[in-house]
Amino acid sequence: MTHHHIALIPGDGIGAEVLPPAQQVLDTVGARHGFGLSYTSYDWSCERYVREGAMMPADGCAQLRDKDAILLGAVGLPRVPDHVSLWGLLIPIRRGFRQYVNLRPIRLFEGVESPLRRATAGEVEFVVVRENVEGEYSEIGGRLNRGFPDEMAVQEAVFTRAGVTRVLDYAFELAARRGGKLTSATKSNGIVHTLPFWDELVAERGAAHPQVAWDQEHIDALAAKFVLDPARFDVVVASNLFGDILSDLAAAVAGSIGIAPAANLNPEREFPSMFEPVHGSAPDIAGQGIANPIGAIWSAALMLEHLGHCRAARDITDAIAMVLAKTDVRTRDLGGSATTTEFTEKLLQLL
Ligand code: NAD
Ligand code: IPM
Ligand code: MN
Repeated sequence: MTHHHIALIPGDGIGAEVLPPAQQVLDTVGARHGFGLSYTSYDWSCERYVREGAMMPADGCAQLRDKDAILLGAVGLPRVPDHVSLWGLLIPIRRGFRQYVNLRPIRLFEGVESPLRRATAGEVEFVVVRENVEGEYSEIGGRLNRGFPDEMAVQEAVFTRAGVTRVLDYAFELAARRGGKLTSATKSNGIVHTLPFWDELVAERGAAHPQVAWDQEHIDALAAKFVLDPARFDVVVASNLFGDILSDLAAAVAGSIGIAPAANLNPEREFPSMFEPVHGSAPDIAGQGIANPIGAIWSAALMLEHLGHCRAARDITDAIAMVLAKTDVRTRDLGGSATTTEFTEKLLQLL
């Protein structure tokens, strides 16, 4: 029997509430499709930071290195500054394991009401490919002259030929396997220096993938088009910050940020990839048992796809679609009144 060893990092807030449902779903499809999953759970979180002064141990990444994949809930607590949770856990994993693709599918499921009048299920289904290790999220810069009148903050955006090319190639190849259409998010109208370079590389990689029809949109106009005509998109490739913003926007268009999944991929498979919902720890609803577990459950499906279990992954997304289309069981963010557990039980029934 194929066996996979998964690292579980539930994290903080609703992160820890949505991971057990994902694990239950994984075990159910594993039993059916004849593969086994074992888990090592890590308490790495802001809670741990408060207790022990670090989000994870100094050899944290080394402990994850031999796992087949990482499933993460979310990190973040109001009393811990976000840069601590970011630079203490999330970013070291994404960067240390060269997870340079952040794949974020969007789908408006039947039975889910989009806030957009014109968005219909079956039409809104695309994927954001977010560059995940460089760009605007660089380590170059800092806060200077704190507390003085000349206080300032600077950060250099870093776009490397190798770093941009590899994520573009991933996106173009994905577009070739899907609808043959790609949109690049940019801001090349002369203000920033980095994105004209991004555009040149898009043109270069576009020429190398003649089967893909590609275009580009300025990020401001693109944000408007996500709202006005989300059905026109198939693969959208974006820099780190642009991709971050577009993926929450797209998730909202598809009904709720609680639905959206993410795969932080190391396509070369030299290192484990990490799967996590797009959403954060949601302190405003944490502890109430009402978080939507779909983002985490769908992320688990992306993990199975990555591990080669495409049919099992498909069973999971089909079951999500079925609960939403055929029942009125849904969490509050989708206009229902089901708890996280009630939703998960219904999904397991239909799985
Ligand atoms: P958030 O995604 O946590 O919450 C935004 C809004 O969406 C909130 O109103 C929340 O209640 C709602 N929401 C999010 N997920 C939901 C779900 N599954 N079901 C129902 N409603 C849901 O974003 P934020 O408020 O910007 O950030 C809160 C904390 O999470 C911060 O500390 C932030 O740094 C952290 N964060 C962590 C990650 C991660 O670990 N990958 C991602 C994003 C934000
Ligand atoms: C995400 C999150 C993170 C990001 C934050 C928490 C650093 O918003 O995964 O989308 O911006 O990458
Ligand atoms: Mn985000």
